[in-house]
Amino acid sequence: MTVMRTSEQDGFQTIKRWLEDRCAIHYPDHKRNLLQQRLARVQRSFGMPDFAKLAYEIMQAQNHEVQLAVMHAASTNHTYFYREKDVLEHFLGNVLPQLAQRNEIRLWSAACSSGDEVYTLAIMIAETLGMDTLRRTTILGTDISAPVIELAEKGVYPARHLEQVPAHIKSKYMQPVGIGHFQIVPEIRQACTFRRMNLKTTPFPFRKPFQAVFCRNVLYYFTHQDQIEVVETIADHVEDNGWLFTSVTESVRDLSPRWRQIISGVSRKRGVAT
Ligand SMILES: C[S@@+](CC[C@H](N)C(=O)[O-])C[C@H]1O[C@@H](n2cnc3c(N)ncnc32)[C@H](O)[C@@H]1O
Repeated sequence: MTVMRTSEQDGFQTIKRWLEDRCAIHYPDHKRNLLQQRLARVQRSFGMPDFAKLAYEIMQAQNHEVQLAVMHAASTNHTYFYREKDVLEHFLGNVLPQLAQRNEIRLWSAACSSGDEVYTLAIMIAETLGMDTLRRTTILGTDISAPVIELAEKGVYPARHLEQVPAHIKSKYMQPVGIGHFQIVPEIRQACTFRRMNLKTTPFPFRKPFQAVFCRNVLYYFTHQDQIEVVETIADHVEDNGWLFTSVTESVRDLSPRWRQIISGVSRKRGVAT
């Protein structure tokens, strides 16, 4: 482990606390080295001498560019198409049939990273309900990290993100662009919108409720209290009896009475008619 001077220690602790208070991103003690390495990269990229200066820029100077870089460096963006198929199968078999007749389908991928989940959902709708239904569908993808939102908007992916995509789906909805990269076709991209958004910043800026929200593989980076607050606030923006999809390892059972777990990774919002 790297030994830090006191001002370095203080700077590191200040940034760690800022990440938790401002972004809900919690690094437990056993991941201290990982956070140090990630912050050191940001420090070097801005030509700063130490973490004390980095902490100063974030806190006192409120340097937005540095804040964004730290948020991005601290977040784990690993994702890929068709991730955790069991949960997606539930969406396909139990949720989509109930949404098929809606005038408007509204889905939200909260913490979407580079958008793989968003495009996976759009492709699933196109395949099962058809392009006409997809044209009545809005899928919003949001993430705290600006660079991943830019990637999502471009819709271009290296082959390793597409390993779980069935060959016939790949050839139908993804066009080769450059060496080993594929772009999502415009008809699918049109249904998908991306915004930078921090789940820790409330109230959320939505006027219309969603029928289903995907908030997968992000809650486990948050403290228990932040997990509670996030799933409670999401409930404010989901229709009664609407769905919340988490990772199978992220249960919302103990987080909020507003959600009723259906299977591991899938919950429904308690409503008047449940
Ligand atoms: C591991 S990825 C999950 C991507 C996708 N949902 C999946 O399951 O594959 C976690 C994402 O959460 C984002 N994130 C972390 N804290 C966040 C916050 N407070 N608000 C919004 N997004 C956040 C990170 O930037 C990262 O892209």
